[in-house]
Amino acid sequence: MNVFNAARERGQEQVFRFWEELSPASRQKLTAQLERVDWDMIEAFGRPVPPRGEISPIGGLSAEEIARNRTLYAACGRKLIREGKLACVLLAGGQGTRLGFDGPKGAFDIGVTRPLYIFERIFDGLLHVARECGVSVPLYIMTSEKNDAQTRAFLMEHGFFGYPASAVRFFVQDMAPAVDLGGKLLLEEKDSLALSPNGNGGWYSSLLRAGIADPSVEWYNVFGVDNVLQRPADPVFLGATAAGGYPCGAKVVKKTDAHERVGVLCLEDGKPSVVEYYELSEEMATASEGGELLYRYGVILNYLFRTDALGAASGEYPVHIAKKKVPYLDEQGRKVLPQTENACKFETLILDLVRQMGSCLPFEVERGREFAPVKNKTGTDSVETARALLTENGVLI
Ligand code: UTP
Repeated sequence: MNVFNAARERGQEQVFRFWEELSPASRQKLTAQLERVDWDMIEAFGRPVPPRGEISPIGGLSAEEIARNRTLYAACGRKLIREGKLACVLLAGGQGTRLGFDGPKGAFDIGVTRPLYIFERIFDGLLHVARECGVSVPLYIMTSEKNDAQTRAFLMEHGFFGYPASAVRFFVQDMAPAVDLGGKLLLEEKDSLALSPNGNGGWYSSLLRAGIADPSVEWYNVFGVDNVLQRPADPVFLGATAAGGYPCGAKVVKKTDAHERVGVLCLEDGKPSVVEYYELSEEMATASEGGELLYRYGVILNYLFRTDALGAASGEYPVHIAKKKVPYLDEQGRKVLPQTENACKFETLILDLVRQMGSCLPFEVERGREFAPVKNKTGTDSVETARALLTENGVLI
């Protein structure tokens, strides 16, 4: 079926609103974008979200147990790193709309008395591990079509903050079209859909598609760009997950209180799963045992995946729909920069990959030492809170 019929059949003919004005090259561009639209995904809009399975608590490694076995785990992790079995994946394809910074989020300067870039914090962490293990862990950076060129240019300009350039590779994730709140595809230009990165769930398929994955890698440590206390390639985390025989590990922090707005790692029908705070009933959120919340492990977007388990995963993920501010062209062809959420983006999420791993080790880390997310300009999880945490950890800002 050609793209005209495909769009018309789905009530999406508004994407051809400016067709008569378009040059042959522009027509080709729009057609090519429409050919890549995943209509099944777009039709997820308005479909009811399938009910959750049976939720139960998950057992994990407490910070105390980790401290007791630290030497053992660290030795196991360092050995794997020295053997070249670990690679890191930095998820840097997001748009950081909440921060509202015009550029890749990693290029944001969080310093006060000196420049200190978010990316720099990741490379500092990698350099620390390289000194400890005597080898540089390969780093794959996932970007999106929106920020790939800027990200590469920024990191080259800064000499990868002292990390060997030969250890760093880039790959670009897929894009998905955004729809307005009524489910209609939006145009960003007369010849272009409003496309945005399709979430962090597809990192492995995008990495494979790029053809740059090293077959000798047995573990991937995958983490977000925006935690300025992130510890990439942590040998203790790797050692504990590998020695425990797990296909997957997740760094977690204890929730600050029963109602903290954070995704919680638990079991769903016996498989590891991340449940959002609003999906837990009051009874579950407050349930405790021996003075500890039963559902206490908040995820911080730092995971380990064993390559063989990734290979066995189906690669099919549920689509999540998130309300965002998306610039678009109105019916007269004028650009609109919305001040409130006007659109929905379609995303797959890494937490659904965790579910496909069958089992997962929750690895508890100290919040104040490893979790300083930069999501917002001010308030919770903001530049201010992250700066305070950096200072508490003795980082000169
Ligand atoms: P967030 O969920 O915080 O999204 O991403 P975001 O796009 O960075 O920020 P907002 O929601 O627009 O304010 C968590 C991590 O996943 C990466 C981000 O770069 C960040 O490291 N991510 C997110 C991707 O790599 N690709 C995506 O499509 C979305």
